[in-house]
Amino acid sequence: MYFHPALLFALVATLAYISVRRFIVRRQFTLRHGCQPVARASNKEPLLGLDTIPGTIRALRQHKILERTSELFRVHGTTFTVKELQRRAIVTIEPENIKTILSIKFKDYGISHRLEAFRPLLGEGIFDTDGDHWAASRALIRPSFTREQVADLTCLEELIQDFFALLPRDGKTVVDLQELFFRYTIDSATDFLFGESIGTLKKTDSEPGFAEAFHYAQKAVIVRGMLGPLNYFYRDRKADECNRMCREFAQRFVDEAFNAAETKKEGHDSQEQQSESKRKRIFSHELAWRTSDRRRVLDEMMNVLLAGRDTTASLLSNLFFMLAKSPDIWAKLRREVTSLEGREPTYEQLRSLKYVQSCINESLRLHPVVPRNERQAVCDTVLPLGGGPDGLFPVFVPKGTLVSYSLYALHRRTDIYGADAHEFRPERWMDGTLRPKWGYLPFNGGPRICIGQQYALTEVGYVLVRMVQELKGVIGQNQGPWEESLALTVCVRGGVPVVLVPDEKGEIQ
Ligand code: HEM
Repeated sequence: MYFHPALLFALVATLAYISVRRFIVRRQFTLRHGCQPVARASNKEPLLGLDTIPGTIRALRQHKILERTSELFRVHGTTFTVKELQRRAIVTIEPENIKTILSIKFKDYGISHRLEAFRPLLGEGIFDTDGDHWAASRALIRPSFTREQVADLTCLEELIQDFFALLPRDGKTVVDLQELFFRYTIDSATDFLFGESIGTLKKTDSEPGFAEAFHYAQKAVIVRGMLGPLNYFYRDRKADECNRMCREFAQRFVDEAFNAAETKKEGHDSQEQQSESKRKRIFSHELAWRTSDRRRVLDEMMNVLLAGRDTTASLLSNLFFMLAKSPDIWAKLRREVTSLEGREPTYEQLRSLKYVQSCINESLRLHPVVPRNERQAVCDTVLPLGGGPDGLFPVFVPKGTLVSYSLYALHRRTDIYGADAHEFRPERWMDGTLRPKWGYLPFNGGPRICIGQQYALTEVGYVLVRMVQELKGVIGQNQGPWEESLALTVCVRGGVPVVLVPDEKGEIQ
């Protein structure tokens, strides 16, 4: 290829002009906002940041990635920059900074870097898009999370009976609760979204189905996310097959939902259909009623399924891992639920059980199931803290920078939670004086706050209360400390093996 020298000169001059201009504009921006340099996690090899990789691999092998990040905050302060493979990121556990990213300067940040990894499974929906597309998704979905919808506990009780049927009652057989919790939540999520549970708790065969395909497809999302631009060269036929299987499976329910919406619009719905829709409101049907875009409904269903399933199962698992080590806490829970006199709790009763709620809060604090998160700056912007030698000055954030925050480390800050921040102590929430605001973010904050928060808390509270009512004790068989099993969410490595002590009645209802 031949470039005329004059053309080449013009090109170089233009590029030089753009760089100099950008430098000047940024310099003025930095001065105007009083920004100062942010601490660097030392990169002995500054070009690619390769020196941090062995430490990361070691932490991965020891299942201590979250602890390693906490350690970095202890060494470099609450906001610093790191460089890994040419990507520079600012990492922070300053509540003011997190509030700025998620709320005050919400429009300065986006998640577009997420889309490529998620699209093959989820399409484009609430969880993996930005801007107008995201706003439309949120508006479409939000009305399906009303109090009335969330307070309907019928399905939770039906499923808890399936769950109880799988629990050994002899006081000596070991059972992994984590495995059962994942089955419980996929059953309840599919009932909520599709109007029909896939019934994994009822299944006795080990035939791989939707749940297994969904699990594999999620693992591939993580690989694609890690590869970033190299993703272009990544091929995994099994993942392609699982994505296809999951989406085809969900498509059936989308088609059904549109048929139901058509019939309803024409006023032809049968008595049977009318009583079914009175009995429960089905997410897919509601979406089909609100939009004519079938692809959109399918994508949103996949997005909500991903956002809602593993999160709730992970919370239950992390919580029960700690409860199974704490007979005193179990006994206290038993005392609290006696107020229900053996009856199934209502939505209002669940919310009024203070110790139950404190145990859930505490699990989400010590083991937040979304333990870290990130946003990418879509324009030059500024964070209020982290600059200068004491970290009290603003920090300049150039467009394209990733700003990531660790909820795991934030929730263990001793200046927020006290010297025992590393302990599981539900009592800290009991008198209502602990109000960490942006120092406690298990469900995120700002306009993208978790839409299913009340749904999840209700489900987890319900399972906990029903278990406490039915079991005198849950005895953990894993003597070691909690270890991370880190994927898109974090649950317990090695599962939650327990032996169950039935109530005096000697049976599980
Ligand atoms: C313990 C359970 C749960 C936890 C800890 C949790 C946590 C979170 C977090 C941290 C986010 C923010 C993600 C981000 O913006 O990067 C989020 C978003 C979301 N969650 Fe949850 N979630 C839980 C359960 C659920 C459930 C049960 C549902 C639905 C049935 C759900 C639906 C969503 C949706 C749709 C979003 C995207 C919201 C948006 O971007 O506007 N979540 N969740």
